[in-house]
Amino acid sequence: MLPRLGYSEEADLPRSGVSCIVIVEIHALTKIYEGKQRVTAVDGIDLSVNPGEIFGLLGPNGAGKTTTISIATTRTLPTSGSVRIAGVDVVAHPAEARRYIGVVPQYNTLDRSLTIYENLYFHCRYFGFTHAQARQRSDELLAQFLLSERRKAYPSQLSGGLAQRVQIARAIAHRPTVLFLDEPSAGLDPQSRMAMWNAVQGLRKEGITVVLTTHYMEEADALSDRVAIVDHGRMLAIGSPQKLKETFGAQTIIHLTLRHLDAAESVAAELRLRPGVQNVELAQDSLRVFTNGAEGLLTDLIQAASPLGLRDIAISEPSLETVFIQLTGRDLRE
Ligand SMILES: Nc1ncnc2c1ncn2[C@@H]1O[C@H](COP(=O)(O)OP(=O)(O)O)[C@@H](O)[C@H]1O
Ligand SMILES: [Mg+2]
Repeated sequence: MLPRLGYSEEADLPRSGVSCIVIVEIHALTKIYEGKQRVTAVDGIDLSVNPGEIFGLLGPNGAGKTTTISIATTRTLPTSGSVRIAGVDVVAHPAEARRYIGVVPQYNTLDRSLTIYENLYFHCRYFGFTHAQARQRSDELLAQFLLSERRKAYPSQLSGGLAQRVQIARAIAHRPTVLFLDEPSAGLDPQSRMAMWNAVQGLRKEGITVVLTTHYMEEADALSDRVAIVDHGRMLAIGSPQKLKETFGAQTIIHLTLRHLDAAESVAAELRLRPGVQNVELAQDSLRVFTNGAEGLLTDLIQAASPLGLRDIAISEPSLETVFIQLTGRDLRE
């Protein structure tokens, strides 16, 4: 029997006692959707998530993040490969795996006919809590997530941020080992997003491992101990945000948006020779200048680009965004 990490009765266990166990182990995972068009949504993903980690899957829309989470949480079957949660194979033993898993899907799945309290209570009952246990756990969660005053409210009466908090409370009600959050801040205003980030960071204290997906690089950067960058169903890089930036994205990118691109290649060639310029790439309607920062470079660039009808200039400081651009040649937002 594997230890049920994250359970309160085990909260006193020393961390080193459990650190040898991998919480999420994804091996050679693929998913092909057969239909009118054959879509390879996940194309050979390998990754492991360690106990207590906040792990981010970062990638643009269509990268395969939701599909990966759906397989890991037993909602979708893989085409090949495997996922183990706390050592339990999700295809062979889905019911057992589900006890270790909490899920917050991208869209609100609260039961609209139940109050907030009842949403929590019936979730606990579903996972085998007695009436008294379910009542106690629901009250505890309402207090923990500052929802006590809204216990009798219905989901339709809540703001997006509050509904998201209820979803997180419900997802951890049965004390799962790992919580999966799919695009947790999609549709949230900045203030609710910050509150959600705090709630997720608070889960760390309870020893809950978190796997989240996002296409916001700031979110992956702010929350994750480690990030896997995914695109077209493949993992391009994995590591701490710091490590990824050091390895792939230590450069500042200056984006010069241009009206005329006919002579852009020759200007790019000329710019590549300037001191401080590491590389210059042609993108859709712009030149991307990769630099480690050189005194006076911006003025030089503006002069060099003005014959091409310089429309706009933007600077990306080293971030997971610049890492993504360097890995794929594309913008996360494109
Ligand atoms: N049920 C499905 N049937 C067919 N194609 C799908 C289905 N779900 C997702 N896809 C496709 O698989 C790819 C990955 O989608 P998804 O996992 O939702 O990516 P993400 O969550 O990173 O945006 C996309 O091309 C998407 O259109
Ligand atoms: Mg998705």
